[in-house]
Formats: sequence, C-alpha cells, structure tokens
Amino acid sequence: MADSTIQSIRVHQYGGPEQLKLEQVQRPTPKEGEVLVRVHAAGVNPVDWKIRRGDFQNFWPRELPYVPGADIAGIVEEVGPGVTAFQPGQAVFGQSANGAYTEYAIASIETLTIKPEKISFDEAATIPIGATTAWQGIFDNGKLQPGQTVLIQGAAGGVGLFAVQFAHWKGAHVIGTTSGKHVDAIRQLGADTVINYEDTPIENAVEKVDLVLDTVGGTTLAQSYQLVKRGGHLVTIAGAPDEAKAKELGIHVASFSAKVSSQLLQQFAQLIEEGQVRVIIEKTYPLSAAVQSHEHSQSGHGLGRIVLHIAD
Ligand SMILES: NC(=O)c1ccc[n+]([C@@H]2O[C@H](COP(=O)([O-])OP(=O)(O)OC[C@H]3O[C@@H](n4cnc5c(N)ncnc54)[C@H](OP(=O)(O)O)[C@@H]3O)[C@@H](O)[C@H]2O)c1
Repeated sequence: MADSTIQSIRVHQYGGPEQLKLEQVQRPTPKEGEVLVRVHAAGVNPVDWKIRRGDFQNFWPRELPYVPGADIAGIVEEVGPGVTAFQPGQAVFGQSANGAYTEYAIASIETLTIKPEKISFDEAATIPIGATTAWQGIFDNGKLQPGQTVLIQGAAGGVGLFAVQFAHWKGAHVIGTTSGKHVDAIRQLGADTVINYEDTPIENAVEKVDLVLDTVGGTTLAQSYQLVKRGGHLVTIAGAPDEAKAKELGIHVASFSAKVSSQLLQQFAQLIEEGQVRVIIEKTYPLSAAVQSHEHSQSGHGLGRIVLHIAD
C-alpha cells in the first residue's frame, strides 16, 4: 500500500506567485469514470496564473484551497470503479480534473490518452491545452482549408507552435509572428513566412489572409481585423471579439474556450508518432519552484511550454 500523503502545490487565497505553497495533502481516490495518475510532469499555462491572480473569480470561482494546473503526463496508478479503458502502469497524458501541480492527480477517462512512446513525460505535458486550443482555433472556429493562408499571432507560444504545425500539416500557407530570437525555430516548424514583430510592422508585411489566429491580444488583436480578407475569419484566444468591427469589415470573429478530449489527444499522439508534429519545452522547473515557473510564464515571452518536472 503506497503512502497516502503526497506533495501538492496549493493556493489558499488569490494573489501573486507567492500564493503557490508546497504542502503535504491526502492522496485522492478515483471515482467512476476516473483514474489516479502518478504525475511525472505538469504543463504551466497562462490560464493557471490568471486563475491564481483571481482574474476569473466572479464567473469561475475556485473552491479554496485548490491545486493549480490541468496539463498532466504520468503513469496510471489506480483506476476508479468500473473503469476498463485504462490499466495501472500505462503511460498517459491529458487533463486533470483536480489540479496538475501535484504528485498524484485525478483525471476523467474522457480527457486522457496513451502517451506517444517517442516523447518524454515532460514533453507530453506540453500538449493537452496548447494543442487542443490550436486545433479548435484554426479548424473548428477558423475553418482553415488546404491552400488557404493563415496568420498565427504569437507563433512561438505554447498554443502558437502547435497552430503553425497543424496548419502546415493541413496544407495551408502559414505566416507566423514572433520576436527575433525565435524566427528560425518557427520557420523550422513549417511556417512559410515568419515576421519579427520587433522590427516589422505587421500591416506592411502581409497581404490579407483567410484566417488570423490571435494568441496575443491587446494591440495585436486590434490590428488583426484589418489583416483578414472579406468573408475570412479572426479567432482570438486572448481577448474579447469586437463584433461590430467585424461586421463593418465583413469578416467573422470568434473566441472560445478549449475543450480537451481523449479523441483529439489521440490525434495529436498519432501526429507526433508519425513525425508530423514536434513539441518544444521552454524550460522545466521542479515542483518546489512553482513560484518561479509562474513568474516566468507571466513574462509573456518564450518558445514553447513551461513544465514542472515532478518525477523521473
Ligand atoms: N481560450 C482558450 O481556451 C485559451 C487556451 C489556451 C491559451 N489561452 C490564452 O492564449 C494566450 C497564449 O497562450 P500560450 O499558452 O500560447 O502562451 P505562452 O506559451 O506564454 O506564449 C506566449 C507567446 O506570445 C509571444 N508574444 C508575446 N508578444 C507578442 C507579440 N507582440 N507578437 C507576437 N508574439 C508575441 C511570445 O513569443 P516571443 O517570446 O517571441 O515574444 C510567446 O511565445 C494566453 O493569454 C492564454 O491565457 C486561451
């Protein structure tokens, strides 16, 4: 019988990164439709620090204290009553239902799949939210078709780098924006044109496109409306869409919340096994350095996803 006390990061009150406390807690037990995962790695997403800061407390309150994070990769330790889809010992990745910055997490069998053998747990933890958001942004919301041109604003981010690769795989012409130091990396991922936002104003650099995926928000989102062809799509994951402006320009605008599913995770695993898609880790931190991982993520710059390496 394994020790029932585990280490978790918990947040007792909304606030700065210092609210991330490493604590001993009881190991959770999986219920019907759930498995318990021994977490080897957890992805650090911007939404994690937005929740921690209390940005969403009015419409998406958390019961305090809570364990932050959602992206996990690890080994199935135990399955809930009646679960046959997974077995103890399997290496998996997906979304946790009760937080990810912990040694053991609960995951629904609906948001979990088998980890591709060719990637590590740290690498697999970069996938769930980032790749799901990219896929649903460019295909489900953006309606991207082969031969069309897509502009990915924020191509180096944990969402953007998947969007570049999925669009390239689909046969679209891909343009990405990034800072100067990530230009070569984004080209290697399959972007046909890479624009360094530090020295090139975007409005001078591109013809109108079929789709813009905005992962940056602010002025980047505001400038993106003018870059879409009439009848084309602007999808933002980092700001509120301006419907009136879109109507005036004759374009579609949308925002959405990503929904992780086992089916999509399987699709990503297959693309990775086939060598069509690569993952990139910006930096790994130990669980005890969750504070630093959030400070890093909040800087808003980097190439790929920040990861908490929790077990070897
Ligand atoms: N709606 C949803 O379901 C959903 C899901 C996931 C994420 N999001 C949101 O989407 C945003 C991005 O998430 P993420 O995980 O990709 O973040 P991330 O991994 O932190 O990446 C942010 C990226 O933005 C780039 N960047 C910063 N300023 C830029 C600019 N002016 N132009 C172009 N690129 C710029 C940075 O690249 P450089 O280092 O090269 O500057 C960095 O790679 C966050 O606000 C997040 O909360 C929403």
